[in-house]
Amino acid sequence: MVKKEWLDKGFVTEPVDKSINLSKAIRQLCEDKNAVVLAHYYTHPEIQDVADFIGDSLALAQWAAKTEADIIVMCGVHFMGETNKILCPDKKVLVCDLNAGCSLADSCKAADLKEFKKKHPGYKVVSYVNTTAEVKALSDVVVTSSNAKIVVDSYPEDEKLIFGPDKNLGNYINSITGRDMILWDGGCHVHGKFSLEGIMKLKEEHPDAKLLVHPECPKPIQIIADVVGSTAGLLKFAINDKADKFIVATESGILHQMTKECPNKTFIPAPPETSEQIGCSCNECEYMKLNTLEKLYNTLKYEWPEIKVNKAVAEKAVKPIDKMLEISKKLK
Ligand code: 13P
Ligand code: SF4
Repeated sequence: MVKKEWLDKGFVTEPVDKSINLSKAIRQLCEDKNAVVLAHYYTHPEIQDVADFIGDSLALAQWAAKTEADIIVMCGVHFMGETNKILCPDKKVLVCDLNAGCSLADSCKAADLKEFKKKHPGYKVVSYVNTTAEVKALSDVVVTSSNAKIVVDSYPEDEKLIFGPDKNLGNYINSITGRDMILWDGGCHVHGKFSLEGIMKLKEEHPDAKLLVHPECPKPIQIIADVVGSTAGLLKFAINDKADKFIVATESGILHQMTKECPNKTFIPAPPETSEQIGCSCNECEYMKLNTLEKLYNTLKYEWPEIKVNKAVAEKAVKPIDKMLEISKKLK
């Protein structure tokens, strides 16, 4: 039975017995319940280590679409759980904490997009996966940072396109495709607050380091990058590149996999603008960090919080997501 206190807080508040080995207990619950744990690269290292699968937004959607598990626990943020539920309507999709939102998804409300579409008749809507189910339902196609170029390229050159909600990613895709898509004025508060000055200073201190930048970062930071790519793309670059030092301008959770995959290379997190005030040299998404081992254990144990998506919305939203997955099959 779901308790009122849980509903009020957005997660299971039951205290967990300190003597329990949580990672072991989580794996046991997964086995007993035919459940899988998916985790985004931005979650805490211990969440990544206990997960069945770790990936970027595209890989997580692809994995969810093909899993045969009865229960999916999405350790990431709310829109990722929704995407999984839309792709697997007959499965139980759980998250650790309903408060794990996304400032980027929040920057585009469905009602506002509806009005925007009315003002731009004849335009197709290309929406980043970091959006609510309602916004996806109003879109023609969904993209992630891994496949945005190939998806946009799949439209005829003269097709009129609206891209949202991430302005920085939209600008980047316009620049590499030669398009002139109309951009929604949204952004991510984590990627939007890297300090250009701080990164320049780091580059001076480490002239041999390559700069890895996520396309949600502002243009001045993209311009000085050695590579701009999704989290999975940046990880792949770090693995394959000859350099042994990298400055990483994306959420610092990715450093866990980078260090694991390349134990002999050095990864330096790029600083946010506020680094001097908060005394921290890395940039964290507080929503992703709401996923903890205790919450994951309780989520599996009590099978709550569960993601529900309105059936009519899901039936519309699945089409642009399926379209993206189909186009992405061409990606190597
Ligand atoms: P990717 O997982 O596509 O790199 O996107 C990063 C992100 O901000 C997820 O919320
Ligand atoms: Fe959203 Fe930014 Fe957090 Fe990604 S890092 S989940 S875009 S707030």
